[in-house]
Amino acid sequence: PDNITVGELANRMAERGADLVKALFKMGMPVTVNQPIDQDTAELLVTEFGHNIKRVSDSDVDIDASEDVDATETLLPRPPVVTIMGHVDHGKTSLLDALRGTDVVAGEAGGITQHIGAYQVTVKSGEKITFLDTPGHEAFTEMRQRGANVTDIVVLVVAADDGLRPQTIEAINHTKAAGVPMIVAINKMDKPEANPKKVREDLLQYEVIVEEMSGDVQDVEVSAMKRTGLDDLIEKILLQAELLDLKANPDRAAEGNVIEAKLDKGRGPVATVLVRRGTLRVGDIFVIGAESGKVRALIDDKGRSVKEAQPSTPVEVLGMSGTPGAGDQLSVVENESRAREVAAYRAGVIQQKRTTATPANLESMFSALR
Ligand code: GTP
Ligand code: MG
Repeated sequence: PDNITVGELANRMAERGADLVKALFKMGMPVTVNQPIDQDTAELLVTEFGHNIKRVSDSDVDIDASEDVDATETLLPRPPVVTIMGHVDHGKTSLLDALRGTDVVAGEAGGITQHIGAYQVTVKSGEKITFLDTPGHEAFTEMRQRGANVTDIVVLVVAADDGLRPQTIEAINHTKAAGVPMIVAINKMDKPEANPKKVREDLLQYEVIVEEMSGDVQDVEVSAMKRTGLDDLIEKILLQAELLDLKANPDRAAEGNVIEAKLDKGRGPVATVLVRRGTLRVGDIFVIGAESGKVRALIDDKGRSVKEAQPSTPVEVLGMSGTPGAGDQLSVVENESRAREVAAYRAGVIQQKRTTATPANLESMFSALR
């Protein structure tokens, strides 16, 4: 049998190349995304990543690789998922507003982002890019981490007049831990105090070596306010995406990740889902975390009701039994009894995790006792 590259296997499994590389490293195989691995190793990885849904009961633990790993012929290019990270007020949301031609910042309480925004932009060349906007305030570490864990590329926004700050460094660490490539956007270049040279030099301390400093991390000077450097940024994102060769099978039962979920007064439980593979459609029966449901409506990032959502598309999903957790998996299943079975299994797993988990710190220990 032919060997397969790590990147292609990742596309076929709808996992990130970076995550496969990490798993292989742990198995004692330091390889890059572009390197081939043998059949046995590939099978080991498939087992290792065996999707939750297949592990519904002990009798059903076997992973049917033919279902979980898409055939190469079924793969089509998908848009990159790009997460914007950086210190509070460095201009992440403004930059996205500039790229989208919108004004989200103006509507934010206190001008501070407090949730993950998910948007898709179609650029001049017709290509699509999915953006996740994360909060920069120190209180939202978990959201930044979650953003880094579902993304293909991170854009690190650093204000040229303020330089490297605590959450800039935190974002660098999340990005490195996730093993995904970074592009540095040096923002607020319109300000007279802007000092991009200092930003580039200070980044060296954190082993982020940008192209201007003869490294391989792409960097770009922008001004969200004056809308300069935006085409350059887009070009760099597309270049990075091309290197990653991102693909997914759009023609199968959908799977996705919950970016955020809430209980809406009027609409009931609502989850923002990023589709990873397959196409999610109105009427689909699904499991989402330990909840189940049937898609009643799909709302896109512009608030429009849509019939379906393709890979890399963020979409609001309505029609679930309860509110799932951020980070939960959505999987479309064949029928309602299967949905209930999987949901019940997942509820058991979640319960077990809760009772066996050791509190990470005193605070969580106290809140667990309450
Ligand atoms: P958090 O989400 O709370 O972390 O902030 P943010 O990084 O999204 O920053 P935001 O876009 O809300 O911008 C913060 C402030 O910086 C606002 O007052 C913006 O108008 C201003 N700002 C953003 N980009 C630029 C820029 O390029 N130039 C100048 N002069 N001001 C900018
Ligand atoms: Mg913001």
